Amino acid sequence: MRARFRRVTADAPEYPLELSHTAMRRLVDEAMERIVAHIESLPEQAASDVAGGAELARSIAETEPPETATSTAELLDLVFDRLATKSFNTAGPGFVAYIPGGGLFHAAVADLIADSINRYTTVFAAAPGLTQLEINVVHWFKRMVGFPIEAGGFLTSGGSLANFSALVTARCERLPEDFLEGTLYVSEQIHHSIGKAAALAGFPPRSVRRIGVDERFRIRIDELRRAIEADREDGLEPFLVVGSAGTTNTGAVDDLEELSSVATEHRLWLHVDAAYGGFFVLTERGRRTLRGLSRADSITLDPHKGLFLPYGTGGLLVREGEALKRAHQMRGEYMLPPEQSPDLVDFCDISPELSRDFRGLRVWLPLKMHGLGVFRAALDEKLDLAEWATDQLREIPDIEIVAEPQLSLLAFRLRRDGLGAAELDRLNRDLMDRINSRQRTFLTGTQLDSGFVLRICVLNFRTHRDHMELALEAIRESVEELSHKVDRS
Ligand SMILES: Cc1ncc(COP(=O)(O)O)c(C=O)c1O
Repeated sequence: MRARFRRVTADAPEYPLELSHTAMRRLVDEAMERIVAHIESLPEQAASDVAGGAELARSIAETEPPETATSTAELLDLVFDRLATKSFNTAGPGFVAYIPGGGLFHAAVADLIADSINRYTTVFAAAPGLTQLEINVVHWFKRMVGFPIEAGGFLTSGGSLANFSALVTARCERLPEDFLEGTLYVSEQIHHSIGKAAALAGFPPRSVRRIGVDERFRIRIDELRRAIEADREDGLEPFLVVGSAGTTNTGAVDDLEELSSVATEHRLWLHVDAAYGGFFVLTERGRRTLRGLSRADSITLDPHKGLFLPYGTGGLLVREGEALKRAHQMRGEYMLPPEQSPDLVDFCDISPELSRDFRGLRVWLPLKMHGLGVFRAALDEKLDLAEWATDQLREIPDIEIVAEPQLSLLAFRLRRDGLGAAELDRLNRDLMDRINSRQRTFLTGTQLDSGFVLRICVLNFRTHRDHMELALEAIRESVEELSHKVDRS
């Protein structure tokens, strides 16, 4: 009997969007050749090169959509040879700026599979087995942070969206519908995504109390207590405190145990932004530093940082899973009935998104392929490297360590007697530019109350001792250069 349907991949020139067997293989092979060459050359690529980037961008700006076809080779040449080369090399071993991660190649393969099969994993019934893989990933995260298995959680596009959903959930759980008397408490070192989340969740800036920090940049518990009490006396409704498990500025980890006690005493929701530091809980040292994390009501994690995944992979965990549903569930008459069994999750009911990519596979594949031990060892290596870099910096004349690494992030600056605050800031910006202009390493700075400081965040899975030695060499040379400059002046 003749088959009723043609194989989808048969050569069918009348349907060019359905690539043939040969065309699919050719496309992947062509791309893979470039990808492998690109990844293998990462250590030799400039740590950052965006000179002329705006001109480049304008030279390829297009307003008319393409009516004609362009060859794959030409398109890949453009992306790999002209565009990717003009960028911060965020995947390379020299990247110790902002918060790195690197981007595991396994995840790219998982995305290729996920996008090729293109199943719908936001509704359990539409792909039960595949959705379970993502549920498993969320279970693993709960285990890592010490949450009960009944806790809820989902993968997001990143920490900002996780913080947003956490704030909305806390608001729904702890405040009435008319919530403008609600106040929330953060340290002055909190990541700006929390302020943005508060604004998007409907809170005016006056609702966000910014609490001072101690000498290690951790929220001051005494000041926090006083602020909560004063607000209550004024008839306001304190409802949420947000702790940091690794700030972006200096890597500070708040005293999470104390925060949890304050939250319990004052009946506040405790959210911990562990986007940077959360996965260090896999290591023994990290677990000690992050003591109290398991007592939070909700936790933001960013696998595209501490699990080295490509950008676009965040996560939120909430101790009381049903709270996520109360904050996010909304249904249309065209949808399948919701899952009733508590172990089977419709991600659309506990998160802001309906259609989305199958993020779970991107986390699941590398973790399953290697097991946790490999990730734990990589994170331990980052802790060692940050300590090593700090010791090396201490040896450089006139370098002051402003923030010791509590995890894998440290801050430092150059001191000069007799310079005013503005001149000192200028000197340190100059130092940063000189270090980065060598293109072996790329680091960034930040503004603290005490002035502009440079930061090193070791979190790229490709950064090892040899690259840190190059970074330190660039720092020493640049400091040396600056000392000559000042001597001559
Ligand atoms: C501490 C912290 N929280 C939140 C975020 C926001 O995460 P994302 O960039 O994934 O949205 C970041 C980003 O670096 C961060 O460092």
